[in-house]
Amino acid sequence: MTSYKDLGLVNSREMFAKAMKGGYAVPAYNFNNMEQLQAIIQACVATKSPVILQVSKGARDYANINLLRNMAKGASEYAKELGCEIPIVLHLDHGDSFETCKECIDNGFSSVMIDGSHFSYEENIALTKKVVEYAHKFDVTVEGELGVLAGIEDEVSAKHSTYTEPDEVIDFVKRTGVDSLAISIGTSHGANKFKPEQCQRNEEGILIPPPLRFDILEEIEKRLPNFPIVLHGSSSVPQEYVKTINEFGGKLVDSIGIPEEQLRRAAKSAVCKINIDSDGRLAMTAAIRKTMAEKPGEFDPRKYLGPAREALKKMYIHKNENVLGSANQA
Ligand code: G3H
Ligand code: 13P
Ligand code: ZN
Repeated sequence: MTSYKDLGLVNSREMFAKAMKGGYAVPAYNFNNMEQLQAIIQACVATKSPVILQVSKGARDYANINLLRNMAKGASEYAKELGCEIPIVLHLDHGDSFETCKECIDNGFSSVMIDGSHFSYEENIALTKKVVEYAHKFDVTVEGELGVLAGIEDEVSAKHSTYTEPDEVIDFVKRTGVDSLAISIGTSHGANKFKPEQCQRNEEGILIPPPLRFDILEEIEKRLPNFPIVLHGSSSVPQEYVKTINEFGGKLVDSIGIPEEQLRRAAKSAVCKINIDSDGRLAMTAAIRKTMAEKPGEFDPRKYLGPAREALKKMYIHKNENVLGSANQA
């Protein structure tokens, strides 16, 4: 058994309480490798932002849980070395069973998500409650989910979305004891969040997707005052990355994300955690494709992963400062 407290990590309780009061959201960035982690830490130290390091099932399969846990420990030491002791959470993203959550808690994670949103309401409650009971013994915080997000990711998929039902949230939170709740109000996973035909074009010809359901969010806030809400599927899919990827041999079609203004508005509400993974993938891929195309003789991975890390860092700084509002809140 490894406690996150020995790894220099914190759980999300105080982080969310501060975010709620301060009207900002804590960034939850996924990582699978060293360059992504370095970029996240460098950006969050540079902007003095708290951060949630997210590990998905796909990340665990790819990188190994022992290695990831020790990378998080290293990240906390690295942040101090860079001169700023920012609060860092190590979070299991989309935990799919009690066993997975337990394994992560026993391996130094300070926060877990149990995603029971694909089960029936009562099954979701029973599973979430079981995880909460175990997690709270070790002061690990738990995120539950109500409502289903549409979209496709490697390990997370749903064909259709079901918005969160505001009438269910009080009962769910009370009966499970969760510390935060992921809701479905129109975001979705991946880089193809909307079909072009669902969008409208503005004067510059840019596709504007349908707005998030802020009415549902407000209803939830009314029923659960000051309770931390989480938004998954919150990549903006910046078109500059899509353009670069396609310019240098990629083939991304209909890549549309959540406009930044919508996320900025959400961050000012009870939304205390905003999940971003796909934008990191896009920034990295764009930089790697560009370097590979422009320097075909290069075969040292540091020569293309280095610029990718820089591109990622720049993007995370922008998000912390201009979208989530988490800069200077560490
Ligand atoms: O929400 C899902 C995350 O983007 C993780 O994706 O399972 O491909 O690592 P992954
Ligand atoms: P994106 O695919 O929009 O980056 O969402 C990531 C996410 O929700 C991770 O849980
Ligand atoms: Zn997610």
